[in-house]
Amino acid sequence: MQDNNLKMSADNAKPVISTRGLVKKFSGKTVLRGIDADIYEGEKVAVIGPSGSGKSTFLRCLNLLEIPTAGKITFGDEIIYESDYYAQKEILDELKAKKHAYVSGTSDDKVRQSLLEIGALKSKLKELKKELKAHKTHAKLLKATAKRGGAEEEIKKTATLISETMSEIASVKAEISVKKADVKTRKAEVKSTLNAGVTQSMSQEIAAQKKITSEAKKKHKKFIAQMDKTIDAHRRITGMVFQHFNLFNNLSVMDNITLAPIKTGLEEVEARKKALKAAIRKGDENAKKELLNLPHRLEIVENARKHAYELLGKVGLQDKADVYPSTLSGGQKQRIAIVRALAMNPGIMLFDEPTSALDPEMVGEVLQVIKKLADDGMTMVIVTHEMGFAREVATRVLFVDEGVIKEDAPPAELFGNPKNERLKEFLSKVL
Ligand SMILES: Nc1ncnc2c1ncn2[C@@H]1O[C@H](COP(=O)(O)OP(=O)(O)OP(=O)(O)O)[C@@H](O)[C@H]1O
Ligand SMILES: [Mg+2]
Repeated sequence: MQDNNLKMSADNAKPVISTRGLVKKFSGKTVLRGIDADIYEGEKVAVIGPSGSGKSTFLRCLNLLEIPTAGKITFGDEIIYESDYYAQKEILDELKAKKHAYVSGTSDDKVRQSLLEIGALKSKLKELKKELKAHKTHAKLLKATAKRGGAEEEIKKTATLISETMSEIASVKAEISVKKADVKTRKAEVKSTLNAGVTQSMSQEIAAQKKITSEAKKKHKKFIAQMDKTIDAHRRITGMVFQHFNLFNNLSVMDNITLAPIKTGLEEVEARKKALKAAIRKGDENAKKELLNLPHRLEIVENARKHAYELLGKVGLQDKADVYPSTLSGGQKQRIAIVRALAMNPGIMLFDEPTSALDPEMVGEVLQVIKKLADDGMTMVIVTHEMGFAREVATRVLFVDEGVIKEDAPPAELFGNPKNERLKEFLSKVL
């Protein structure tokens, strides 16, 4: 795997996209467990693997449709995601659990009993405080009513309830402080029976890890905050094509394709306008000239439509520019979805099983379009069940299993001479 990467890096210098230690968890379940991948310019990387192994999640992380839990993603020279906060927090939690297990395993029954009693007393105190609050609100209401006459009996009753609750609270509080003192002495006793060296070194380890974790958290928060500004731009330049085309049914084919480029084009002009106006206020003469030459809305729209029309030509669907997606076949819809992604001039195309929702007779036309893109030099990552296609078109195949890349090799080698046992088993089922 390393050799292959080294070879590619010698030819093409830098990868388009890189990941290091990419981890993704969904509510505690780890789906990606540290993916290191480099996709070099012009590469066509096929990703294969069993259902549920994390292929789509990997692709969605590359495009930041999913925010990774930990690791690093680089796009060109830009770090688009980097965080080791969750990884560090996990180490901290493990250290804490280890110490807890050591201490409680060595503590005596009396200390454990005292701790339990304190817990129960605290919840009782909480309940009593709630009760008190309710009584006080009731009393307030009654007083308001009494002003208008009547309800004296009720007021008296509430006052009694309040004072009863108060004394109950006081006695619970006293009980808690006695218990706490008790626990403190018992803890000190237990401590003397523990191995001081062991607890001390555990505490030191925890303190050091706390520091690392809090630094990582600060960095993580900062990164997430500034990501808002970069995430859209990144999604646009990593063209994604899904299994289900996700076209807008209420827009024509042309509008589906030009929606994003027009929006971005207008936003870019607006931003430039703002910068130029600021420069003009500072007396910049060149800025004035540039401001006058900025493209107008109509020009942006026309350019987007022209580009869309050219791309439609490449997939053989120029005659469909003005129809609505509902009138298209699945294969045609997917070709339009590909054009829509291409319209943003992506630096890489990510395909997630682009043909698996299609009727068999339409698979060919979509694969043909993808193959043509590949031949034109587009860098792409394609998750696919089409092993024949992977073999024919891919320059490299990644076998993903249980959230890690288990094999990474050119197709002839990966299919012809698989090394990983899980890959052998997988291939025996799908080939
Ligand atoms: N948003 C989510 N919330 C919770 N779990 C998720 C989420 N997305 C994916 N998963 C889980 O992560 C695991 C990997 O899913 P993923 O879609 O990446 O697998 P896959 O390799 O693409 O599978 P398939 O070949 O079936 O498409 C699965 O167990 C899935 O249930
Ligand atoms: Mg999938």
